[in-house]
Amino acid sequence: MHKAIHITHYISVCIFLAIYFVKTILLISNKEDTLTKFSKKIKIPEMIVSFLFLATGIYLLIQLQEIKMLLIIKIALVFLSIPIAVIGFKKRNKILGALSLLMITASFGLAEIAAKQTAKISKEAVAEDGTIKGAVLYQDNCVLCHGDNGKLGMSGAADISKTQMSQDSIRQVVLNGKGMMAKIQGLTPEQAAAIAAYVNTSIKGK
Ligand code: HEC
Repeated sequence: MHKAIHITHYISVCIFLAIYFVKTILLISNKEDTLTKFSKKIKIPEMIVSFLFLATGIYLLIQLQEIKMLLIIKIALVFLSIPIAVIGFKKRNKILGALSLLMITASFGLAEIAAKQTAKISKEAVAEDGTIKGAVLYQDNCVLCHGDNGKLGMSGAADISKTQMSQDSIRQVVLNGKGMMAKIQGLTPEQAAAIAAYVNTSIKGK
């Protein structure tokens, strides 16, 4: 379900941007008549796509438990670009038209950056003798989506209590991400290995 919404969001944003791109080019190149005709033809599909894009975006937003600065900038850009686009196209103002396209494209790019996860490493994660506590790192970085027992399934997360993966494959997922799960940045190989060992012994098969 979550995956389908994510994909719908991605596709509707792409179509939305493509329509916008064409409109902006027509506006900038003074093709008034073509722009009017194109806008008329595309009106209904554009409304559907915009609705899908906003509705799935809001759904994805509600699912997030932590809103990062980048995401706030992204949302602000999207919402600012809407009135600018409306006014720009109504008044046939090239600068506003181009500006709104730029803003919405930039916010799309920001989404990719915001998707990267940065590891949280609390003090308790490393014992005095230097051993790394996988359980603590799991609490810091994984429970948000997977829950204490691995079964939470937030943001479309897999139930890792049922995973068939080996400890080493789990380590690779932590280091490199997998499908919808973003790579967790900033973990050392030893920390990733400690998390994998914890998942393998205390969550998998439980
Ligand atoms: C932002 C949410 C999120 C966080 C945080 C997260 N995961 Fe995931 N995880 C996912 C999603 C979503 C999937 C499903 C990936 C797919 O198959 O598309 C997944 C899949 C996995 C899998 C693969 C399970 C399988 O059998 O396919 C493992 C293992 C895993 N996560 C371990 C971890 C560990 C360990 C951490 C902490 C270091 C972690 N995850 C943090 C969302 C998250």
